[in-house]
Amino acid sequence: MFSKSFTPLIDPFDRRVRDLRISITDRCNFRCTYCMPEEGLKWLERTDILSFEEIARLARIFVEGFDFDGIRLTGGEPTVRADLPVLVAKLSGLIVPSTNKPVDLAMTTNGSSLRLIAERLKTAGLNRLNISLDSLDPQIFQAMTRRNHLDKVLDGINAAIEAGFDPVKINIVMIRGMNDHEIVDFASFGRDKGVQPRFIEFMPLDADGAWSMDKVVPANEIVERINDVYPLEPVVHGPEPAQRFTYKDGMGEIGVIPSVTKPFCGNCDRVRLTAEGKFMTCLFAIDEFDLRKILRSGGSDQELIEQIETAVGTKWAGHNIGKVNFIRPPRSMSQIGG
Ligand code: 5AD
Ligand code: SF4
Repeated sequence: MFSKSFTPLIDPFDRRVRDLRISITDRCNFRCTYCMPEEGLKWLERTDILSFEEIARLARIFVEGFDFDGIRLTGGEPTVRADLPVLVAKLSGLIVPSTNKPVDLAMTTNGSSLRLIAERLKTAGLNRLNISLDSLDPQIFQAMTRRNHLDKVLDGINAAIEAGFDPVKINIVMIRGMNDHEIVDFASFGRDKGVQPRFIEFMPLDADGAWSMDKVVPANEIVERINDVYPLEPVVHGPEPAQRFTYKDGMGEIGVIPSVTKPFCGNCDRVRLTAEGKFMTCLFAIDEFDLRKILRSGGSDQELIEQIETAVGTKWAGHNIGKVNFIRPPRSMSQIGG
């Protein structure tokens, strides 16, 4: 219905917003220390969470109405949601008006269920997968995720490769004194397996509130340590937050995400939808815009469009992690969507 008449969403800092992260559940079978407390969080009621139909309706508005070209499914852990391939199939058919191509549909997962569903996700039209893997050492893996599932995740990575996902990206949250001695091991792992490690600076979004600046491993240091062993060169690229590097010997690529030491807010093109249908214009936003209320009170597409436009009108320039005026958001990562 929108096809030719989309309206680009432009925020107050003249950034074109066109990438949507959808958290489809707040639940998770892991308890990563940088995200959740050991006992878990108070889960949302099933009825509070958007249905696949509600998610698909909103996704259609973003893609067809606002020309969004990327959607990423996150959680919690998105694979704990039953019948996930059904949702993927609903979303993968959306066509971006300006390019007439299908939306780029991606997912971030902890990988523990991929042996069971990677192939079905691929068939349903999922394009890209990021799999979290914070350590290659079973004990450190257990310390960081509070689960003894390293083998399952490694097998999940194999399943993703076998299903034909290419590239498979591996998200590694680097925490000083925890896994920073494994930087080069991860580079070797990526080169051997043909997967792309993406080293992420630890952000103050852990439910335990244990974050401190001295636990952040700066992206520059990560690049230097890999470059000493496997020489790298930078890749020139678009608005994505990762700084990318290829190996000079052609053996693949790595990325670093300097969320803390070099925030990429200046060319941020993202917005977020929480599992219960709150629309947020930044990971660190305090304001939330309730789209579920409009959906469930019989609101029209036009009302949803207006609420989304109002919300994007409040998107701020960026976060201030590490500065005195930084305000920690009330939600932790699993409650926003990673
Ligand atoms: N800092 C940085 N990244 C985080 N993630 C979760 N919590 C944090 C945090 N505090 C990221 C992880 C995971 C994704 C779901 O969210 O990379 O892969
Ligand atoms: Fe679960 Fe991901 Fe949070 Fe880990 S980071 S507890 S896998 S939602």
